[in-house]
Amino acid sequence: MREPVVVSGAILSVAGLSAGYVGEDVIYDIGFEVDEGEAVTIIGSNGAGKSTLFRAIMSMLTPSAGTVRFDGSDITGLATHRIARLGLAYVPAERHLFPQMSVTENLLLGAFPDRPDPAIQDSVFDVFPRLAERKTQDAGTLSGGEQQMLAVGRALMSKPSLLLLDEPTTGLAPLLAAEAYKALARLRDDGLTLVVAEQQVPLALELASRGYVIDHGRFGLSGPSEELAGNPEVQRAYLGVA
Ligand SMILES: Nc1ncnc2c1ncn2[C@@H]1O[C@H](COP(=O)(O)OP(=O)(O)OP(=O)(O)O)[C@@H](O)[C@H]1O
Ligand SMILES: [Mg+2]
Repeated sequence: MREPVVVSGAILSVAGLSAGYVGEDVIYDIGFEVDEGEAVTIIGSNGAGKSTLFRAIMSMLTPSAGTVRFDGSDITGLATHRIARLGLAYVPAERHLFPQMSVTENLLLGAFPDRPDPAIQDSVFDVFPRLAERKTQDAGTLSGGEQQMLAVGRALMSKPSLLLLDEPTTGLAPLLAAEAYKALARLRDDGLTLVVAEQQVPLALELASRGYVIDHGRFGLSGPSEELAGNPEVQRAYLGVA
């Protein structure tokens, strides 16, 4: 009798992933899965390995071990632009906007090499009305919060099915951070799958239904957001509870 084919419902599946720099791993044996439509957070402090994990998923770093599967295909080691074409978009903490180009021009580049979809562009302006008010303004003159909106908006232009967001609140004052998360909640409610790396743990746990804690390059605690928020270890390390 044939073995039944096990079809995982996960859109992103990471197994045994290790990666690092100049031959030395800084993340070790990372495994997790994300289902379509889920919002998941990866929480960890400075240097824990969040950005390295995202870079390894996106093949910006070559993993020393492990596999990454996305939407049914093994994407381990695939060129970054090909991964993006499959619908996995990445918004780095550094944002990498083109400062001397306008808001609209930055958005249009997000669709490259496809023709920009005006309906998607409209939906970006709908989620981020501040960008709509500043269409012709140079990206370099936007406030930090607006630049973050533009970085997310540009990623949306590629019509991703999953968005990896690295610390979307970097450099944002608390009110703007909360505003950024409101927009992310809206994207989540529209059915976009989100994986958010964060140090702003309360916001991240509110957005996500589940989370993983990364510490010194290894996954430790994980579980539903309410459980993590109530965990004394998480409270001590990430929520400022004495
Ligand atoms: N380009 C690099 N070359 C060498 N080591 C690096 C490089 N980038 C990061 N590291 C090291 O890898 C480890 C994990 O860093 P990483 O940037 O992934 O952490 P992070 O969780 O994203 O931290 P942060 O919250 O500060 O962004 C750290 O020890 C860091 O010093
Ligand atoms: Mg980082």
